[in-house]
Amino acid sequence: MEHHNKSPFPNGFLWGAASAAYQIEGAWDADGKGPSVWDTFTKQEGTTFQGSNGDIAVDHYHRYKEDIALMAEQGLKAYRFSVAWSRIYPIGRGEVNEQGLAFYDDLINELLAHGIEPILTLYHWDLPQALMDEYGGWESRRIIEDFDHYAVTLFRRYGDRVKYWVSLNEQNYFVSYGYETALHPPGVRDRKRMYEVNHIANLANATVIRSFRSWVPDGMIGPSFAYKPYYPINSDPANVLAYENSEDLNNYFWMDIYAWGRYPTSAWRYLEENGLTPTVQPGDFELLASAKPDFMGVNYYRTTTVEHYGLHNELELGLKNTSGAKGSTKHSGIPGLYKTAANPFVETTNWDWDIDPQGLRIGMRRIMNRYQLPVLITENGLGEFDKLEEGELIRDDYRIAYLRSHLAAIQDAISDGVEVLGYCAWSFTDLLSWLNGYQKRYGFVYVDRDELDAKELRRIKKESYYWYKNVIKSNGEEL
Ligand code: BG6
Repeated sequence: MEHHNKSPFPNGFLWGAASAAYQIEGAWDADGKGPSVWDTFTKQEGTTFQGSNGDIAVDHYHRYKEDIALMAEQGLKAYRFSVAWSRIYPIGRGEVNEQGLAFYDDLINELLAHGIEPILTLYHWDLPQALMDEYGGWESRRIIEDFDHYAVTLFRRYGDRVKYWVSLNEQNYFVSYGYETALHPPGVRDRKRMYEVNHIANLANATVIRSFRSWVPDGMIGPSFAYKPYYPINSDPANVLAYENSEDLNNYFWMDIYAWGRYPTSAWRYLEENGLTPTVQPGDFELLASAKPDFMGVNYYRTTTVEHYGLHNELELGLKNTSGAKGSTKHSGIPGLYKTAANPFVETTNWDWDIDPQGLRIGMRRIMNRYQLPVLITENGLGEFDKLEEGELIRDDYRIAYLRSHLAAIQDAISDGVEVLGYCAWSFTDLLSWLNGYQKRYGFVYVDRDELDAKELRRIKKESYYWYKNVIKSNGEEL
């Protein structure tokens, strides 16, 4: 669809940036915080790039005022951050840690004092280690009550000031990386367990959305879904079917549950045939259908292209590029469903992620037309090597090009009729990229540290910082 005139970004558009507690806060055991599964996992040999971890991260816990001052100077309208569950409940439940609550009180108040709308994520992967030890974390339905109790604690404490909430960040990633590829904690390779865990996470997500309605009736809540729209490699019907298979199993499998409380029929049939269905108890689907979110949070980085992959093949889980050595990713495939393939029409990053702004527009339209839900872009950005040059310069024109083209695609989607609440670039400062260390940088603000040496953690504005400042000032008219 081409438009003679593009619609402008709406007034009140949330021009934001995002982060997550483990990736920025540091202070991993300060002021009563309990360990999370990431505190434990990163200490195990060979789990992360050069053994990097978030013990110090970029020390946002102690420098949040400096960081918020930089956000204010840039003109940021919104800031998405996550709360570390084990700061609030060091063992996941039981006695609340007032110092943890006070930290986020201060953070929220500081944001509001600078006219920045807080967007609070309840869960960005840092499960309290104690719950993992006690009952296997997401593998037990006991987590539903504990997660709800924790969420209600936050709703009651911050609901007067925080109006935008994200429930689970990238549930599709934390379950598949945790239980299929074993790249994230708890490092399990068992697809049956993955679908069990996922169903329980769905129930927990629905439960907190229902609680939210009582405690923050004037707020909005939704999940952040890691959305990689799929393409067929060409118009061969076998490849188009492979694309349908991957959409059903990898995208609609989550979004249909969020919006409608049911799994796509063909994906469910695949689970049945392969002995992978999760345990469903009476009342589960009623609960899931009763918790429609207010928006679909979208974390968008790339699209994926697929082709036919016959039943006689092996299950390939792929090898991820976690070093920035371009071309080191290995394709993955599920026999009888699809196999990933290179898309000859797009460039890739040094981490082999397809750069595809049009894919964002396509994905947003799919969401709008299928679910009639507004979209909040909760993450979008470019992870790249950045170079600090003499004179405190970071010339990240490649990041500006990436963000500019994706914002243009969002404007196209708005022109197509998609309702978009806001845009949170990933990320505000540089941060720990889970498996890829500190060298894969995303921020508008450079943080001078590397994998093993935190140095002085100086903050230095990149060229993209000034570019985004002007985008915000012109409400997206000058991209
Ligand atoms: C999302 C996560 O998966 O993408 C973020 O919500 C993450 O926490 C971001 O950092 C980029 O991924 P990566 O692997 O490059 O850090």
